Amino acid sequence: MSDNNVQIFDTTLRDGEQVPGCKLNTDQKLIIAEQLEQLGVDVIEAGFPVSSPGDFKSVEEISKLVKNTIVCGLTRAVENDIKVAAEALKYAKHPRIHTGIGTSASHIKYKFNSNQDAILERAFEAVKFAKRFVEDVEFYAEDAGRTDNEFLARVCEMAIKAGATVLNIPDTTGYCLPSEYGAKIKYLKENVKGIEKAILSCHCHNDLGLATANSIEGVINGARQIECTINGIGERAGNTALEEVVMVLKQHPYLNLDTNIKTEHLYGISQLVSENMGIYTQPNKAIVGANAFAHSSGIHQDGVIKNRETYEIINPKDVGVTESAIVLTARSGRAALAYRAKNVGYELTKLQLDAVYANFLDFADVNKEINDTDIHQIIETSKVYQ
Ligand code: KIV
Ligand code: ZN
Repeated sequence: MSDNNVQIFDTTLRDGEQVPGCKLNTDQKLIIAEQLEQLGVDVIEAGFPVSSPGDFKSVEEISKLVKNTIVCGLTRAVENDIKVAAEALKYAKHPRIHTGIGTSASHIKYKFNSNQDAILERAFEAVKFAKRFVEDVEFYAEDAGRTDNEFLARVCEMAIKAGATVLNIPDTTGYCLPSEYGAKIKYLKENVKGIEKAILSCHCHNDLGLATANSIEGVINGARQIECTINGIGERAGNTALEEVVMVLKQHPYLNLDTNIKTEHLYGISQLVSENMGIYTQPNKAIVGANAFAHSSGIHQDGVIKNRETYEIINPKDVGVTESAIVLTARSGRAALAYRAKNVGYELTKLQLDAVYANFLDFADVNKEINDTDIHQIIETSKVYQ
C-alpha cells in the first residue's frame, strides 16, 4: 500500500444493516460480499458476531467465501464478544477484529457510569485480548467526534501499545463540522505517541449531511482508511456513502489520494444493495441516483448535447451507467427534442422541428415525462407530417 492509498472499509453488512426495518439473510449477505470483493474494497465488515446466531453464521460463511479481502467482525470491549468474533472469523484468510469502547464524556458517564482511567484500561485490555486471536486488530473510540482531543490521544496511545494497527475515529452522532473533524485527525497524527505504527480511520455518520465532507477532510489531514456503506445506508441518516468518497478522490487527482475501487462496478452494486435491502435510492442521490446523469432543462440539454462536459463532471461510464439521459419535459428545448427524435429514427428539418415542437409542448404540459412511444405519436400527429 502506497502512502497515498486510502483503504476502503465497507460496513454495509454491519453498520449499514442497522437500518430500521431492513434485514439481510446469510445468502443475501454472501451475494453482496462477493460483489464487494469484485468492487475492490480492502475490508468487508461482515457483522457483529456476538449479536445473534444469524450474524455469527453470516460472518463465518463470508470468511469462507472471501479470498483476498480482509474480513472483519465487530465487538465491544468485552472478552466474550472478542472470543465469539475470533471463532466466527476462523476460516478467514485475512481476519480482522474491530473492538472498542465509548470515549466521550457522555458515554463514559451515562453508558458506563465509569471514569477515564477505567476506559483507558478497558481499551488496552480489549486490544491485548483480541491480539491473542488475530494479528490485525482495529480499535474504535466510539463518539470520538465529541471526545476531548487530549483524552482521545491517550486512548489511541493505549490501543497502539496493546497492538492495534488501525485506529477508528468515529463521528458516531454525525455532529462534527468538516474543519473540526479534519483538525481532530491532524491533532492525533501530530500528538499520538507511536502513531507511525497505525493508520487512522474515518467513520462518519450523516446526521447533518456532512459524512462525505468529514471523511474527505479526514483523509486530507492524514487518515488512510474510510469506513463507508453502499448508498450511504445505515442507522438514522446513514453512514458515509462509499460511491461518494471514492468518486470525490477520483475526480480530484490533485489531492494525490487514490483507492483500489473499480468504479465501473458502483452503479451495479448500488442496485444490488437497494434491491436486497428493499430500500429505494432517492433519485437525486449523488453518483448512483436515477437522476444523477439525467438532464431535463432546455439550457442544460442543449449544452450536454453539444459537449457532455458542459454539465457533467463525471463520465457516467466510469460508474457503470451506460449513458446520460436527455429527459423530455415541458422545460425541454428544440435541441433535446431533435436529439431524442433522431434516436427513434426521425431526422427533422428546421421547419418540421418547429411544428413538432409546438405539438410536443402541448403534450408535455399535460404529460409529465415523454417516452419514446410518445415521441412517435407527437411526430406522426404534427401537421407537418400529415
Ligand atoms: O458509529 C460508530 O461509532 C460505530 C462503531 C461501533 C465503530 O459504528
Ligand atoms: Zn457507525
